Amino acid sequence: MSGINPKSKKNLGSAHQELASAVESTNPPSRVPFTKLDFQKAKIQGKKISVITAYDYTSAQLLDSAGIDCLLVGGSPGMVIQGQSDALSVTMEQMIYHSRCVRQGTKNAFVVTDLPFMTYQVSPEQALINAGQLIQSGRAQGVKLEGGIRSAAAISKITQADIPVMGHIGLTPQSIHQFGGFRVQRNEEKLINDALAVQDSGAFALVLECIPAELAKTITSRLTIPTIGIGAGPHCDGQVLVFHDLLGMFSDLKPKFVKIFAAIGEQIKQAAQLYQQEIQSGTYPDTEHSFR
Ligand code: KIV
Repeated sequence: MSGINPKSKKNLGSAHQELASAVESTNPPSRVPFTKLDFQKAKIQGKKISVITAYDYTSAQLLDSAGIDCLLVGGSPGMVIQGQSDALSVTMEQMIYHSRCVRQGTKNAFVVTDLPFMTYQVSPEQALINAGQLIQSGRAQGVKLEGGIRSAAAISKITQADIPVMGHIGLTPQSIHQFGGFRVQRNEEKLINDALAVQDSGAFALVLECIPAELAKTITSRLTIPTIGIGAGPHCDGQVLVFHDLLGMFSDLKPKFVKIFAAIGEQIKQAAQLYQQEIQSGTYPDTEHSFR
């Protein structure tokens, strides 16, 4: 049995309290839904856009009530939920499932769901059919797909059907074998042309992943649609992080850009150890947690 000392028990309590008051203080009293139009408004007004990935009802509820603008049902469940080394084997069925769960827990945040690998590359028609499925069955409000010039026709086709599209360039996780690993992307000319192609195809926002901060600044200033950075420095119009990364719950991969905003992973471990210790010692369940 692994134990826990009274000191760490105390720490667990105060960490919970700190987190609760941090959430309370950032909890907006009342909000209106963040829509596709608000992405554009935010860019014009210079208000940064907050995006976090979400995969289930409970975490979506928490993030939504914290006032996060957009929840991204990203392809990362391949890694953080399924434990794969990449996002390539995630299916449409799985994305629809996660998307529905997230939308169910969301009142105000805009829900965008990723098109999985090989669901939009074959033809613009295939892309539109699958994007439609994520909206119809997955209850998403927009879809995200990877690629610049190579995905322009697919983005056009989807946006012509009035489905909002978020683009994604730079280190696109579905191209991992082509890139030879998770590497910072530095081809300036290619990335600028890709960004412009995504915008010209009708996308409402663009994720920039793992590119130098100065290049992200240049792209952000060249575009009229907002850029959402992940490992792309502070000059983007918004930021996105993977839920499990920002809460210190995922240790398989630790990219340089990840900041742990609350060590929930460690707290989960401590709570589980405390639970185990209390059932062994008979402290739990006590009369307060038992029926008469
Ligand atoms: O798959 C994903 O989670 C993403 C990132 C941008 C967070 O696309």
